[in-house]
Amino acid sequence: MIESLLRRIAAEVRLHRHNRLNRKGVVSESAQNYFVLHDILPKNIHEGLCSTVQTLNDSWVSKSTAWRSGSAIGGHELKDSVCAPWLEYLTSSDFLEDVRTRTGLANLDLVPEQDMNRMSLLSYSGAEGTRGDGADWHMDGSIYLGDRWAGILVLEEETSEADAKLELKPHGNRVVLPAAEMKNTLILFQGDHVEHRVRPMLPGEERVVISLLFSTWPVMTLNPLLRRYQARVNREFYDA
Ligand SMILES: [Fe+2]
Repeated sequence: MIESLLRRIAAEVRLHRHNRLNRKGVVSESAQNYFVLHDILPKNIHEGLCSTVQTLNDSWVSKSTAWRSGSAIGGHELKDSVCAPWLEYLTSSDFLEDVRTRTGLANLDLVPEQDMNRMSLLSYSGAEGTRGDGADWHMDGSIYLGDRWAGILVLEEETSEADAKLELKPHGNRVVLPAAEMKNTLILFQGDHVEHRVRPMLPGEERVVISLLFSTWPVMTLNPLLRRYQARVNREFYDA
């Protein structure tokens, strides 16, 4: 009992310190790995998701802030949507075991269902005469006690450029991935340690991804400052 309390306090202190350093751009050298997992969904599930997502027209919340523009549907809304049956696979032990085996991250788990970032749908598009959707270089905050892993599962990436729109900067070096290989691929990275961006969409381009949030200890901090930070980010994405 005392031991687990001490472990919890140590994790809270570590997380608070991490977020403080993160804001100054200080990150851990040991958290710069990323994984690119192709063919992550069974073919029929990928196709089922792509076709049901097309029918979600009214549910998207479009937002444009200084650093990001795009549309999103949070996890709570997705649960009641036509996509729900197809999304069940992402919470199955088959899926989690596959990700754990392919990454070697044996403790990886999705964050709890109450968190709308556990699973959300993000859409980026570009239209003539407007600034295309995208997100500037940034690092995420973290509100979970374990290592935070952001997962971007690309459903569609209909773009005209050779490089995929999601770019990472592990160890400060920009990495681009081939756009042609992005469909049905999960990119897993520690977004609170690795800078990343979504390059602006050009007119006619379209990109739809499922954003997944994993942690090696998926217990949310009790720190009110960090929780308030997350509430502000949620409002920027979903009107939450
Ligand atoms: Fe991010």
